[in-house]
Amino acid sequence: MCGIVGYTGHREAVPVLIDGLRRLEYRGYDSAGIVVPENGGLVLEKRAGTLDVLEQALSNSRFPATSGIGHTRWATHGAPTDVNAHPHTDCGGRFAVVHNGIIENYRQLRNWLKAEGHVFKSDTDTEVLPHLIEHYYRDDLYQAVRRALEQIEGSFAVLTLVTTEPGRLIVARRDSPLVVGLGEGENFIASDIPALLTYTRDTYLLNDGEMAEVTPDFIKVSDLNGNPVHKEIFCVNWECEQAEKGGYEHFMLKEIHEQPRALRDTLRGRIDQDGRRVVLKELNVDPDTVRNLKKIFITACGTAFHAGVVGKYIIEKMTRIPVEVDIASEFRYRDPLINPGDLVVVVSQSGETADTRAALREARRRGAHVIAITNVVGSSVAREADDVLYTWAGPEIAVASTKAYITQLAAFYLLALWLAGERGTLPDDEREAILHALREIDTGVSTLLADADQIAALAQRYKDQHGLFFIGRGLDFAVAMEGSLKLKEISYIHAEAYPAGELKHGTLALITEGVPVIALATQPDLFEKALSNVKEVKARGAEVVALTFEGHHDIEDLGDHLVYLPATHPVLAPILAVVPLQLFAYYAAIARGCSVDKPRNLAKSVTVE
Ligand code: G6P
Repeated sequence: MCGIVGYTGHREAVPVLIDGLRRLEYRGYDSAGIVVPENGGLVLEKRAGTLDVLEQALSNSRFPATSGIGHTRWATHGAPTDVNAHPHTDCGGRFAVVHNGIIENYRQLRNWLKAEGHVFKSDTDTEVLPHLIEHYYRDDLYQAVRRALEQIEGSFAVLTLVTTEPGRLIVARRDSPLVVGLGEGENFIASDIPALLTYTRDTYLLNDGEMAEVTPDFIKVSDLNGNPVHKEIFCVNWECEQAEKGGYEHFMLKEIHEQPRALRDTLRGRIDQDGRRVVLKELNVDPDTVRNLKKIFITACGTAFHAGVVGKYIIEKMTRIPVEVDIASEFRYRDPLINPGDLVVVVSQSGETADTRAALREARRRGAHVIAITNVVGSSVAREADDVLYTWAGPEIAVASTKAYITQLAAFYLLALWLAGERGTLPDDEREAILHALREIDTGVSTLLADADQIAALAQRYKDQHGLFFIGRGLDFAVAMEGSLKLKEISYIHAEAYPAGELKHGTLALITEGVPVIALATQPDLFEKALSNVKEVKARGAEVVALTFEGHHDIEDLGDHLVYLPATHPVLAPILAVVPLQLFAYYAAIARGCSVDKPRNLAKSVTVE
């Protein structure tokens, strides 16, 4: 996500803002900007590119202002350009806003504000905020921000200022972090603690639904209705590096724990109000093409490919359209039998993977309609595809992908349910039941994360093994592939994922006394079959860790260790089942002393063939 900083005090604000933004650079961003009130107006500077570009633009002037706000942007709505960079301002150039999060209803608000005569400059969702504040302002920024936020559906961490009240910042949050740093005769605001540590360790951690009025001398916290809230000071005792990781030991663990939030962001605004249909406004596939679809191809590399395997199972199940899933480096050279009118879905966290890009171009050359599922706005894949479904997981820093994968899964569920809705291939009640469960899936992920100790103990137990097997059928096999890859890439333990029914055709020879087998058994229609495979490996001495939903007593008798998933619709099991597997890989790597965030020989983004 984006980075936010704010300052009000006695120092020149611009260097404080730039310093704060520098400390948030590690999170990744594509543009940056600052604004300070000066001489009754605003000095605004914002640039696509790095902070160096912004600093260069500021280098010839000095700004005496002692308050201001700044932002590093990770694009969601609108490409990474100067105009789309934050801060954003109103028509009169009096109000400035920086914002993290996603405003779901920005289209309606924008249309309404335009009808009221407001003129918009950018393509962002954020720009509705300064215009709303302008609309409601009656000499009190606090009340205007409060009224504006009442209109917003979605998530936000916002900082706002107005030229007529310099030194007074109004800030608020819902579902996006915001911290106020306490100084003497000065106060600071940031989306993340590292931006504050140069100046203070005393903070107020704002909770969801809280806002604050911040001046050099006081901080008044309230809820979004204006009722006062008492805050305790939280003294940060982390060092900078630890703070960058949000207090977690590694980025990977932080990103695993960000998954509930990431899932909420992926789903946000894409399910209609009454929870009955998927709405994918970003797709321009015409209804006839959808109705006449004969074939879908999915192609990707690495973890994104594994998300594609889940995608194949669920799209076929829900839409009855045949789906082929290919590793991109294979797809591009195998002369695939694509016909004009076929749909090709490319999946890429970075949107820059060379093989995936080449597969995309090959698909377009053959007349397919290409949808990209990607995390990076404005990436090559996003630009070259016909349509883009962004995952909105926020920047992923650890090489091993976690929150990107889980949000790719969510994107596939949305796509499958949307196609099923358009084609009428899934009974309404079934579609609604899945959608209902999907909207609550983040809480299931949180429940699993709260039980990480159990997984850490298992990882400790198996850390010295030479090899492990992950087995499952159907969707469980698809998740097994990802679990196995996670373990290999960060702990360097050899692991193999196997379709459980295929074991007896060779791999069973490797199952001997004490060999760990992680058996996934989440699918009701395949449960009995999975159980017989567990018996097969148990009979050869395997030690079985069974992953299943509560209430499966047979497997309870067979598994040496049981990991339970919280109840959900079984078709959504992959979103839950992958979480313990990610944690298992993480804790195994820690126990073996591996470099978790930067595993040997691997790169986050592979832009060469
Ligand atoms: C690299 C990364 C993997 C990733 C794969 C595809 O190998 O190490 O984590 O899954 O590339 O990357 P993409 O950005 O296209 O999803």
